[in-house]
Amino acid sequence: MRQPVFAANWKMNHGPSAARAFVAQFTARWSPRADRTVILFPPALSVTTVVAALSSRSDIGVGVQNIWTEDKGAFTGESSAPMARDAGARFVLVGHSERRHVFGETDAQTALKCAAAARSELTPILCVGELLAQREGGETEPVVLRQLDAGLGELSSQEIASMAIAYEPVWAIGTGKNATPDDASAVHAEIRRALHERVGDAATTIPILYGGSVNPTNASSLLAADDVDGLLVGGASLSPDDWARICGT
Ligand code: PGA
Repeated sequence: MRQPVFAANWKMNHGPSAARAFVAQFTARWSPRADRTVILFPPALSVTTVVAALSSRSDIGVGVQNIWTEDKGAFTGESSAPMARDAGARFVLVGHSERRHVFGETDAQTALKCAAAARSELTPILCVGELLAQREGGETEPVVLRQLDAGLGELSSQEIASMAIAYEPVWAIGTGKNATPDDASAVHAEIRRALHERVGDAATTIPILYGGSVNPTNASSLLAADDVDGLLVGGASLSPDDWARICGT
């Protein structure tokens, strides 16, 4: 059985003070539940604050939104997987569409970042998704499968079996236009099939999250779709109230 994963991608929002306030408000609304995984992805500067604020809430995980490919060295402005781990993070988003399309991250870099995460025992959530023009051109499946294939390229079957994937159509991110549950389900099934080809039956336990304009109203129909095992939420995860409602889906 896959248990649902609810991941909050705060993007470049909630510095340490706002993050501390969020955790206080969210934990007042959200009681631990053994049947789901809840993870917060604050910006890097807020990670230690969030980890400290959650010290009595081991039910809520913390991750970073990005890492660099190397463990240390002359990479001004970057943070590494061992540093994220040391700060208390246990998860990392790799290949988020904003990393790919705003910062020019390549498929080859996502592979190295997944490998860096695995070396430091951070669980990668590899994000894949097509642009609007690619969807309209009928290229959704090849684009998503190419990103998936490339991103997993440096990982062992065992490492793949213990990670997660997020399907986030780029046209749905921050636009208020979510994919329909059927559209999401169709892509998730393709991802599952590709994972099965790589790792066999272990693919059945790899969570595949949907992301893109998820909110408290559409969360339950998306989560109910076949092969949708969780939600990666941006905008609606910034409000403790909305986020608690989504996690309760
Ligand atoms: P959104 O972002 O929920 O604001 O569309 C999702 C994401 O980018 O992970």
